Amino acid sequence: MRRPIIAGNWKMNMAAAQEAVALVTQLRASVNGVPVDVVVCPPFPWLASVAQSLSNSSIALGAQDLFWEPQGAFTGEVSPTMLAGVGCRYVIVGHSERRQLFGETDANVNKKLQAALRYGLTPIVCVGETLAQRERNETAAVVREQVRDGLASLSEQDLGKIVLAYEPVWAIGTGRTATPEQAQEVHALIRRLVQERWGGAAAQGIRVQYGGSVTAANALELLRQPDVDGALVGGASLKADAFAAIIQAAAQAKGVTA
Ligand code: 13P
Repeated sequence: MRRPIIAGNWKMNMAAAQEAVALVTQLRASVNGVPVDVVVCPPFPWLASVAQSLSNSSIALGAQDLFWEPQGAFTGEVSPTMLAGVGCRYVIVGHSERRQLFGETDANVNKKLQAALRYGLTPIVCVGETLAQRERNETAAVVREQVRDGLASLSEQDLGKIVLAYEPVWAIGTGRTATPEQAQEVHALIRRLVQERWGGAAAQGIRVQYGGSVTAANALELLRQPDVDGALVGGASLKADAFAAIIQAAAQAKGVTA
């Protein structure tokens, strides 16, 4: 049984630390005891305040990106050791916005996820095709390449320490969610790719989140798919009620109880 995992990617939202603190304070009260791994990924400046608000809570802290060096002359970057030091346990790597807007490549993704593992952070590695690629029937090829190159040289043991996220770019922030069948098809493909390269145990163990316009209304059907192990939530993670409802939907879909 793979434990469901729901992560909130706040992106560059939450204008003030107080807003961030209010959100997690409400969230921790409503998801207390739910048998689902819950992660929140605030912008860098609010990590410390949110970490403090989450102390002694089961909700884990994550960052939205990292650089691969532990320290040095890298203006504007944040290191894995800094993230671990502020209390992060997770870090998102290779989000499509980083790939599209900031030139992130599979090679960079690979360096970042190796660095995350080296410093004890769990990387949430994102893959997914654009609308043009889907329309050209390239989804499988794109995802295959992102998994092959992004996860290059990972051992089976390393693979057990990462989370994958399938985020079709056309579904992100558009309100146009993948259908449960479309999500399941690509999630099953990802599991097959893991099986081909790292074997059956790795494939059965790895958790693959779906991301792209997940809401309280569509989460249950998506999470009912056998290869959808969780969700990476953008917009709906900015409201405690909506995010808590998605977490409850995960518990219900997977039949887990406290
Ligand atoms: P939305 O849920 O806002 O579509 O964002 C998804 C996403 O990119 C999460 O990383």
